[in-house]
Amino acid sequence: MPPSITVNSATPPLPPGPATHPVWQLLRYSFWPLEYLEDCACFGETFTFRLAGFGELVMLTRPEDIREVFRGDPAILHAGEGNVLLSTLVGETSVLVLDDAPHLRQRRVLLPPLKGERMRTFFDAMQSETLVIAREWARGGVVRADSAMQAITLRVILRAALGIASGPTFDALQSSMGSLLREVRHPLVLVLWNVFPPDRFKDSRLLPFYRLRRRFDAVLYRVIAEQRALPPEQRTPSLLSDLLAATHDNGDPLSDVELRDAIVTIVAAGHDTTALSLAWALELILPRADVIAPIDAELAKVCGAEMPRPEHLPELTYLDAVIRESLRVRNILPFVVRVLKAQFSVGGITYPKGVVLCPAIHLLHQRDDLYPEPKTFRPERFLERKFAAHEWNPFGGGNRACLGQAFALYEMKVVLATLFTELRMHRPPGAVSKPVRRGISVGPSDGVRLIARSRVA
Ligand code: HEM
Repeated sequence: MPPSITVNSATPPLPPGPATHPVWQLLRYSFWPLEYLEDCACFGETFTFRLAGFGELVMLTRPEDIREVFRGDPAILHAGEGNVLLSTLVGETSVLVLDDAPHLRQRRVLLPPLKGERMRTFFDAMQSETLVIAREWARGGVVRADSAMQAITLRVILRAALGIASGPTFDALQSSMGSLLREVRHPLVLVLWNVFPPDRFKDSRLLPFYRLRRRFDAVLYRVIAEQRALPPEQRTPSLLSDLLAATHDNGDPLSDVELRDAIVTIVAAGHDTTALSLAWALELILPRADVIAPIDAELAKVCGAEMPRPEHLPELTYLDAVIRESLRVRNILPFVVRVLKAQFSVGGITYPKGVVLCPAIHLLHQRDDLYPEPKTFRPERFLERKFAAHEWNPFGGGNRACLGQAFALYEMKVVLATLFTELRMHRPPGAVSKPVRRGISVGPSDGVRLIARSRVA
């Protein structure tokens, strides 16, 4: 989310937008995020939002404008500055909140361990954690998909990040990070951090967020010290061991603070995002027998009677289309931000320094010239044609494109393939999931309630 900005009144006017009070606009966006964005689309393909405390945000919905912003000069288009409030959780050296050379430095060290070909090493963790949940669900009753998916993705990302899967250290990290992330799911969390600057409260013993963060950090710093003290060949293979082996361009190793911030960034950015996307995918799939049937048929053809294995995944092309379409229909991050550090022209308008340009991913994905009948969940679209990076971008783009895209797509495939192999699932009668704010993400109001039973029973 962007910091507050002031636009000089001598500068050209920004595109039109709602004239209501910025506090009302902030409340509407906080509680009815997608509805409000869609309502504002009546102002045109480019419109201006005014959110109290966050300034003026220009929403871009034309694919060509979004491409220009993603290709634009990173020295002019700052995303880290727009995300700065997140440093309360992820720390000041996190790739999420940096810009320019410091951003590039952190991105360079994080990229190799999250590359596509490394995903296979996480397969077993992803499948075994899913099977634990599938077996719990098979006992019957109504369950919430979001909390189960959060349990899977938190355990998977901690295992991937630190290479440990059980024991007191793992339990301590899992429980304090789980509680910490619950604290940041309030729809107004960024508003609160904006009004009560975290710097003033970071030593608070009373506020649970800061207490939990200190508890998590203490355990994480101990793990970092233990792993750093070992010779490289004796370290537990993990993202942490990769980062301990990495160096910056000048040959310097990462400091403990950089390692802490990198691990927390990966855990925080890679946990709820994937969990909510999985919950939304189930919400879209389960009412649709015409989508479940081809998923089942493909699993039977590719995997036979076996559990899906890593070598099966590339062949699950229909499931891949289901995942891509679900990420189109239900965007958990409806827009991304770029704070202008200098004048920038896009779509025939020149914007002054200080304006926040926002590629509005949700509205891009709702364009009927790109996606006919955009509200309809139709995975076949992704089999019929390939969408370019500026037409489908749930993971943002340019020099800030999500570092976990390969990880998230892989995890979603493993989890869904395993669940559909193990279980038959349906929604209870009358179940409805409305999009609501969860921290900075958009999640389902009812958590996606569902009923499951084992396929073999
Ligand atoms: C379905 C799941 C996910 C979605 C929808 C998602 C979406 C996004 C989006 C929209 C951005 C901002 C991009 C921009 O500003 O252009 C982002 C950034 C980021 N994501 Fe993800 N993400 C997901 C999963 C993950 C995972 C699993 C990880 C880590 C393993 C991760 C790590 C990051 C990081 C580190 C950044 C910051 C990149 C930078 O600023 O250079 N994300 N993500």
